[in-house]
Amino acid sequence: MAHHRTEKVVVLMKIGFIGAGKVGFALGKYFCIHGIEVAGYYSRSIQSAAEAADFTGTAPYAAAEDLLSDSDVLFFTVPDDAVASCYKQLCVRPIQGKIFCHTSGAMTAEEAFSGIEALGAFGYSVHPLFAVSDKLRSYSELTDVFFTLEGSGAQRDFMLDWLLEAGLHVQLIDSAVKAKYHAAAAIVSNHVVALFDEAQGLLAECGFAPAAARQALGRIFTSNARHVAEQGAAAALTGPVQRGDMGTLAKHLAVLGSHEDRLLYLLLSRRLVKLAKIKNPAYDDTAIQKFLADEYDEVLALAKSGRAGRKDEH
Ligand SMILES: NC(=O)c1ccc[n+]([C@@H]2O[C@H](COP(=O)([O-])OP(=O)(O)OC[C@H]3O[C@@H](n4cnc5c(N)ncnc54)[C@H](OP(=O)(O)O)[C@@H]3O)[C@@H](O)[C@H]2O)c1
Repeated sequence: MAHHRTEKVVVLMKIGFIGAGKVGFALGKYFCIHGIEVAGYYSRSIQSAAEAADFTGTAPYAAAEDLLSDSDVLFFTVPDDAVASCYKQLCVRPIQGKIFCHTSGAMTAEEAFSGIEALGAFGYSVHPLFAVSDKLRSYSELTDVFFTLEGSGAQRDFMLDWLLEAGLHVQLIDSAVKAKYHAAAAIVSNHVVALFDEAQGLLAECGFAPAAARQALGRIFTSNARHVAEQGAAAALTGPVQRGDMGTLAKHLAVLGSHEDRLLYLLLSRRLVKLAKIKNPAYDDTAIQKFLADEYDEVLALAKSGRAGRKDEH
């Protein structure tokens, strides 16, 4: 269940950031705007720390230990592979009572901050379910973003209250499902990008210039995304699978250039049949299921044999 802010809890904590990149900039600025005190930034390069400090009106730190001393909560907004080593470097100092957070979607708190509770401190993953693409502008988009919180039991409710108080939407998740959760995020974010690219490639073959293809696809892409988000996938479904138009599906398959393209199309179409059934329980999927399964088997056999597909043979 998602948690939303219910009552005001006044919690005075000072936040520090290790890693002055996109997420560090965005989260730091967001916290500053929402009245949360940010001590400042340490980063691999002092220039990045100085730029982030300037952007947020906080201080740059040349030594991570000094930022540790000045902060109650440290956010490790470095690349995933650097989180555990940054943590280990700081652990040579006393860290009792401190709260360490990282913002990686794939890593658990325990993976990043191994053994932290034995040192009297607490570790969490606080992941924004959002593509933070612009270090100067993304902070303004964080208000409606979902954050997931996972980590040390001892202070988890406190952390939850604190993040809610900061105006964020927060969902507690178990460390055991972190990889599955992140797969969901990657599918809806990165994999959709791959599908957009696939469609843009097809329009290029139809004579569209890149900008025209982006403009043409952008409209249908964004309105469809809004419908899916607002109404749910089944309700938003349109197209030949939902209508049972197998002739149209066959035409599409005949013009797709590679086995990979056809397999992608077929696998997604099979998924759409399930949604069509949910949308309309009377939908008779017998023929379309058989059509898609036969095509899939045929393309897979061709792909395994290394032979060209129907379009490639022409
Ligand atoms: N961007 C997103 O959409 C997004 C979304 C959700 C979660 N996240 C997570 O947020 C974290 C940060 O991602 P990001 O996109 O903000 O990355 P980023 O823009 O590449 O920024 C990472 C920053 O970390 C600094 N850094 C690298 N190694 C360091 C080290 N050993 N010690 C100190 N600083 C170091 C770099 O510093 P210099 O500039 O000083 O060289 C860089 O500015 C990652 O865990 C990522 O998975 C990202």
